[in-house]
Formats: sequence, C-alpha cells, structure tokens
Amino acid sequence: MTDLFSKFDPLIRQREDLLATGVTDPFSLVMERVVSPTVAICNGRETILLGTYNYMGMTFDADVIAAGKDALDKFGAGTTGSRVLNGTYQGHKECEEALKEFYAMDHAMVFSTGYQANLGIISTIAGKGDYVILDIDSHASIYDGCAMGNAEIVAFRHNDVDALEKRLKRLPPEAGKLVVLEGVYSMLGDIAPLKEMIRVSKEAGAMILVDEAHSMGFIGEHGRGVAEAQGVIDDVDFIIGTFSKSVGTVGGFCVSNHPKFEILRLVCRPYVFTASLPPSVVATAATSIRKLMHGSNKRAHLWENSKVLHKGLRDLGFTLGTDEPQSAIIAVIMPDLEMGAMMWEALLEEGLYVNLARPPATPAGMTLLRCSLCAEHSSDQVIEILARFERAGKRVGIIG
Ligand SMILES: Cc1ncc(COP(=O)(O)O)c(C=O)c1O
Repeated sequence: MTDLFSKFDPLIRQREDLLATGVTDPFSLVMERVVSPTVAICNGRETILLGTYNYMGMTFDADVIAAGKDALDKFGAGTTGSRVLNGTYQGHKECEEALKEFYAMDHAMVFSTGYQANLGIISTIAGKGDYVILDIDSHASIYDGCAMGNAEIVAFRHNDVDALEKRLKRLPPEAGKLVVLEGVYSMLGDIAPLKEMIRVSKEAGAMILVDEAHSMGFIGEHGRGVAEAQGVIDDVDFIIGTFSKSVGTVGGFCVSNHPKFEILRLVCRPYVFTASLPPSVVATAATSIRKLMHGSNKRAHLWENSKVLHKGLRDLGFTLGTDEPQSAIIAVIMPDLEMGAMMWEALLEEGLYVNLARPPATPAGMTLLRCSLCAEHSSDQVIEILARFERAGKRVGIIG
C-alpha cells in the first residue's frame, strides 16, 4: 500500500523542527474566553486581539446579538436544507435585501461562506472556452473557484496594470473573459489599482469581479469597498464579500446589477448543494449590515488607528508590507519562519495576539506577522500595542 499521507512528510518535518525549538505552536492557540471584540483570555492571560478580521467590532454589538437570539428562539437552530428547497427563510431574504440596500445594487445572493461564494460564482459563470484572468496573489477561494470550473486560467503579476493589459491583449477577442481582482489583498494589506485595472479590462471586453472581503464596512464613503473609494463601483459586474469579517458572523455573498443574475440560484452548485445559513446567523448578518450603513464615525476611528499603528511600527524599526497604511491590515515582515514564530510567541507572552502567516498563504515565500485593527480598539490600546511590540522585538532581537 502506498501511504497517501507521504506527500505531507516535508510539512510534518518542518512542523516538528519548529516545535523542537521549544516555541509554542502558533497554529493551535485556543481563545479560552472572548471578553470583547478586542480582548480575549489566551493561556489564562488577558490578551489584546490584533489578529481578527473583526474590523468594525460588530461581534458584540447589542442589536446584532439580540437579533440572533430572537431568530434562534423563533426559527430554531438550523434550516437543515438547501436555499433552493426548504432552506430559504424570511431571514435569508431580509439579509439579501440589506445587502442590496448596502451596495445599492439590484441583486444579492447569500452563500454559506465567502469561500463558497467565490467557488460558486467563478466556476459557474466562467465555463469551457472562457478565460479567468486573475492576480497571482489571489485568495485560495478564487484559485479553488478556477480549479472547480472549466475556464482557462491566466494569472498576472500582483497589482501590475501593464501585465494585466498584456495578458488581455493576447486572448482571443471574441472569447468570454472574467477579470478577478481583490479590493484589499489580505496578506500585505495593500489595495488594488482598481480604476486602471477596470479600465483596461473593459477595453478588452471583460466582465469584472471584485472580492471586497477585507474592505466591506470600512473602505469607501458608505463602506462598499475599494471600488467605491476609487469611484468605479458602477463598472464592477460582481462584488463578492463575506460576513466573517466586518459583518462579524459567518456567510458569504455576491451582489450584482446583471439582469440575468437570478438564474445563478439554479445553476451554482456551491449554492444549491449545501445547507443554508442558520436563521440566527442571517438575522445577525442583516442587523449588522444595516448598522454598517451608518458607520462613518467608526470608519474614521479605524483609519486613525491604522495610521498610528503603521507609523509607530515603522518608527520602531520594523519592516512593513506597505509604505503607507492602505487598509486595516498592517503586515510586519519577518526574516524567516523560526524568527516569525519566536516573535509571535514573545508578543503572546506580552498579551498581544497577531496572526502568523507563512507560505503558501503568503506571497514570495514571506513570513508575516499580520496585524488587523478593529474600530473598537481604543487609542490607548493602540499605544499599548506599540509598547508590547517594542518589548517583544527587543527581546527576540528583531529591532535594536
Ligand atoms: C479575499 C477573501 N475572499 C474570501 C474569503 C473567504 O471568506 P469566508 O471566511 O467567508 O469563507 C476570505 C477569507 O479569508 C478572503 O480573505
């Protein structure tokens, strides 16, 4: 018998070598208690959370929690069915209405996760003979959507408008084309030059999908994302998003003005062949989305936090993923995985949780400490975060 697990041996060895250095396993941390959007108890210690996607701090919003409890009482724990059979409740429709209003778009389709939204939309609309043109640093769910479909896949250099244009020009003019972009790239926290990319894509006759997972609620005047901030949202054919970040729960969606959009409900396999979200989840999502429409003060505070943290970390001597803060994600570049894991542990001992990210999730084989800010972080917490980074960085020897 060939052991099908032998392909994982290099990863198993890498993990064993890392743990043999005595470092805490960075990928099995348990949140023993969650006190608020910005504080949890980890290893018995009160810890500031700087590695969640809870950008707008909606997880503990009183109205959101009340809506979830009410739906749990009235509609039960789950739907036990697909959206196209017994799994569409009033709450799913209300959630889709909230999304249509939030984005000012004609159609909204709620999936069970954002991963499934990318998987479903990309694999369904780009078929045999079509082309998907995507940024090489795209999220795994975008790649998996491509792998599940039958279209030809063409990748271009990260955020490079000329590279995108060149690739598009080489494709048959009459072929169907879907350009897939992200508003914010979650590893380095950089944003896409959507305005220019959408212009060259439209010139080539392509449709455009933008995944705004990390910008919804925060970026743009109404929190609609980078496409809104750059004034090109009307040129985007499909926006993909998630409830697992700013919305503060779980679920995914696609919004669009395409007149034939509703047919996707019958042909999109990751929508049809899975159970729909529980009533409590869609109730929390709908309430949260409606509150995010009026979140401009929170957005302003989150930008302030992002600027203060970015400048503070740079002044301390850390190497960051972007020259300027472009989103709520600030990536601190580590020299290697060992050093990254040591710094991650030192921060945890200081009472600060960040995300340790490593290849293949990261671009160019980088190890990153990804800091993601929350609108509920107080200004004092941000100052405390910088003090903890300074102490940990000096202890590990990453800064002098
Ligand atoms: C860019 C992007 N798209 C999609 C997803 C998937 O979202 P979900 O957590 O809802 O599956 C993520 C999640 O990390 C993401 O970063």
